[in-house]
Amino acid sequence: MAPTVEDRFTHRNDTLYCEDVPVRDVVDAVGTPVYVYSLARLRDAFRGFDQAFAGSRHLVCFSVKANSNLAVLRAFVNEGSGFDIVSGGELFRVLKAGADPRKVVFSGVGKTRDEMEYALRSGILMFNVESEQEMEALNQVAGSMGVTAPVSFRINPDVDPQTHPYISTGMKKSKFGIAIDPAAEAYRRAIALSNLEVVGVDCHIGSQLTSTSPFADAAERVRAFVEVLRREGADIRYVDLGGGLGIRYDDEEPPDAGDYAKALMQGVRGLDVTLVLEPGRSMVGNAGILVTRVLYLKRTEAKNFVVVDGAMNDLIRPSLYGAFQGLRPVDRREAGSMTADVVGPICESGDFLAQDRSIQTPVPGDLMAVMSAGAYGFTMASNYNTRPRAAEVLVDGKEFAVVRERETLEGLVAGEKIPAML
Ligand code: LLP
Repeated sequence: MAPTVEDRFTHRNDTLYCEDVPVRDVVDAVGTPVYVYSLARLRDAFRGFDQAFAGSRHLVCFSVKANSNLAVLRAFVNEGSGFDIVSGGELFRVLKAGADPRKVVFSGVGKTRDEMEYALRSGILMFNVESEQEMEALNQVAGSMGVTAPVSFRINPDVDPQTHPYISTGMKKSKFGIAIDPAAEAYRRAIALSNLEVVGVDCHIGSQLTSTSPFADAAERVRAFVEVLRREGADIRYVDLGGGLGIRYDDEEPPDAGDYAKALMQGVRGLDVTLVLEPGRSMVGNAGILVTRVLYLKRTEAKNFVVVDGAMNDLIRPSLYGAFQGLRPVDRREAGSMTADVVGPICESGDFLAQDRSIQTPVPGDLMAVMSAGAYGFTMASNYNTRPRAAEVLVDGKEFAVVRERETLEGLVAGEKIPAML
């Protein structure tokens, strides 16, 4: 079975711990809202995933967009991880965290020329190119620098990943990748360009997938395509199968890393390549929680609302995707339960962390943990309503460290200027 958030976030004597640290101690030190991550869980997730692919030459490139805190990245660097980046900003972060640029793959539909130049200067492993125009631009940038850019094309295998439409990326109507037939043509052109070196084939079909079959179908299609390209003389050394492995938020039953790896390795069987994997959520999702404090209870004719100090700017997944995030009281007690919407202070009806959820009846001041918040939590946070972004804390056994200070109000306006004309 896939791991759950309860692996490292459990109640002991009715109070929630992250590893051996009472969550309350973290809150006493840094306040709320705060993200709390478990180092042991990050390591377990990486090792479990990496070992699942032991039967194949492979490189795990953690997908930085899921959680880009420097300390989290360093934890993965220490495990030997590579990184999947989608911007110059993410490249900057991974290099700062000590990543080996030879283990960095650059994905995304809209790389700018500046970003291409930065990545070429840094010596990354490969660019996952998503259009012919991007290919031309990369060839020009590499040419102007007198270097050769290693490329894969992201192909769109037209597989339905059966997940939320906003995070389905491998279907015909998606903006991502190139369909297989035009991709064959793109490869022919790339091979002819003097500042590109074709090294691989890439695909990523979506996120939070809970069954292996779409992955297996995509891998099969990639394998057939690689065989075609090889017959045409392309030297395909890498097959990047993206990320997308789902996690348990509620009652989902995603495959574990072993079954997932088996499906992919079976899909590409017989190809002599290095597999590249870009897991994000499955590395960090259940390694983190968001802790928030109850401000008020508000009972209306229609509903009960529990107003907390964490909001959609801190964790947008419930608002944006209607995503389910588990809730636990940090301190359990005999309080009975109530059904309520748990909402933040932001001026939007969409500002909720949970709707119609049965929770332990809280009183103002109670702490509540939003579970499974380690992926696409802080990285999607904003300053909407001029709310400083939350602090982030990393726990290791009995110890914890603040790995990102809570933002300050001065910090929020630091780049703004009132011009003389005013
Ligand atoms: N590689 C590429 C090219 C991607 O676009 C993504 C995610 C990944 C890897 C990592 O996928 P993962 O293993 O995390 O599923 N904000 C959404 C998820 C967006 C995923 C975007 N791409 C959410 O909170 O559910």
